[in-house]
Amino acid sequence: MSTEQIEILLIDDEKNYLLVLESLLLDAGYSVTALSDPESALAFLDESEVDVVITDMKMPKLSGKDVLAHVKRDYPHVPVLVMTAFGTIESAVDLMKMGAFDYIAKPFANDELLLSVQNAAELAGVHRRYRLLHENLEEQYGRHRIIGKSKGIRNVLAVVDRAAPAKSTILISGESGTGKELVARAVHFASPRKDGPFISVNCAALNPGVLESELFGHEKGSFTGAVALHRGRFELAHGGTLFLDEIGELPPELQVKLLRVLQERKFERVGGSEEIEVDIRVVAATNKDLQREVEADRFREDLYYRLNVVQMVLPPLRERREDIPLLLAHFTEKATADNNLSRKTFSPEALELLSGYEWPGNIRQLENVVERCMIMASGDTVTVDDLPPEVKDEEAHLKNALDLLPAELNLAETLDRLEAALIRRALARADFVQVKAAERLGVSKSLLQYKLRKYGITGH
Ligand SMILES: Nc1ncnc2c1ncn2[C@@H]1O[C@H](COP(=O)(O)OP(=O)(O)OP(=O)(O)O)[C@@H](O)[C@H]1O
Ligand SMILES: [Mg+2]
Repeated sequence: MSTEQIEILLIDDEKNYLLVLESLLLDAGYSVTALSDPESALAFLDESEVDVVITDMKMPKLSGKDVLAHVKRDYPHVPVLVMTAFGTIESAVDLMKMGAFDYIAKPFANDELLLSVQNAAELAGVHRRYRLLHENLEEQYGRHRIIGKSKGIRNVLAVVDRAAPAKSTILISGESGTGKELVARAVHFASPRKDGPFISVNCAALNPGVLESELFGHEKGSFTGAVALHRGRFELAHGGTLFLDEIGELPPELQVKLLRVLQERKFERVGGSEEIEVDIRVVAATNKDLQREVEADRFREDLYYRLNVVQMVLPPLRERREDIPLLLAHFTEKATADNNLSRKTFSPEALELLSGYEWPGNIRQLENVVERCMIMASGDTVTVDDLPPEVKDEEAHLKNALDLLPAELNLAETLDRLEAALIRRALARADFVQVKAAERLGVSKSLLQYKLRKYGITGH
């Protein structure tokens, strides 16, 4: 970071001295606001972005200590340099304890001051870059990144808004690719912990022993290979959010341990006896039906209730087809921007196929399909021919549909389910106008109505 970008607020009641210092700092390339009245300096601080504060110690009305206390309270990241001609060792220690970045006794050599300012400027630069990065993350993962206007998505957003400010544990369930991680991040960035860490652990990715160390950490020498102390994700997430992905895969012995942490917010590292207390918010996600896992004795019931304080269910994409056009537009924009491509539009026939497709891989699959189309289609329009085989191929289509049905169904039940699904789809595509849906299905309106009653299908 070049020195020009660093904004220094300089405060000294001795006007002559102030001018000398101002020109010294300007010559060194900083941007400087020099004020002789500490009260107006504090007002200036509230209005502008200041990177470094340099203040005199002894001033009428407000002392350097008052300025320091004010800055540390309201702008804890801004380094404060204190200059004084009346310094004693005790007050220097006091100032450092109060959080002063440095302390310089007058008279000082110019180089001495400039060196100290340079160090403070570097720290300020790091903070500024960190802030930018963080704003980027928020921009990338904030709630506004969740696209959709369907009732399902609006419900999810409403729960995000209501649950985010609290600390309660959240359980997000939904098929693969429905946006569980996206929602977990949105909760974090909408919560008061947004400046803290978001730490994620995939409970399915590691074997139980490694996972235990990953979650809770281990002490040096607690097992062969534990050559150093290792902090677990629970510790790393302190002050922030811990995202436990695929919680349904958590081995039974770790389920017990997790339950204890959730209850007491305390745990020990593997091989350790010291109790570690953490302030974390836990968000867990699963693509399994956890209740069924509980019934099958694969998941502890007490842990299930502990996790399930706030529940969010992400509907599969095929149950909120009205979001498909929005998502197509969103990912078209993204794919073309990311890959530096010109924008292409989907032909009406291609759109129809995409809207009617089952999307077993949900939004992740849709995102991939759009990206592939943007790269592969030769013209400005993506036609049916450009669509990947799994979307355009009716055979594949049917196979996807069949794969989604429970394996144990008998023929009649299976056919009933398929029929009900086809009718629902035809209705949705016909904007719920029954005559049109009947026409699409090639049946009479009265037969359709009979089937609607039979399957208990209502309007939307
Ligand atoms: N509503 C949405 N709006 C925009 N993008 C979305 C939405 N839902 C999901 N995505 C995107 O789809 C992709 C998959 O989402 P994510 O990783 O959150 O899914 P997941 O439910 O965690 O899947 P898995 O169970 O496979 O881990 C991501 O790139 C995500 O940004
Ligand atoms: Mg995920």
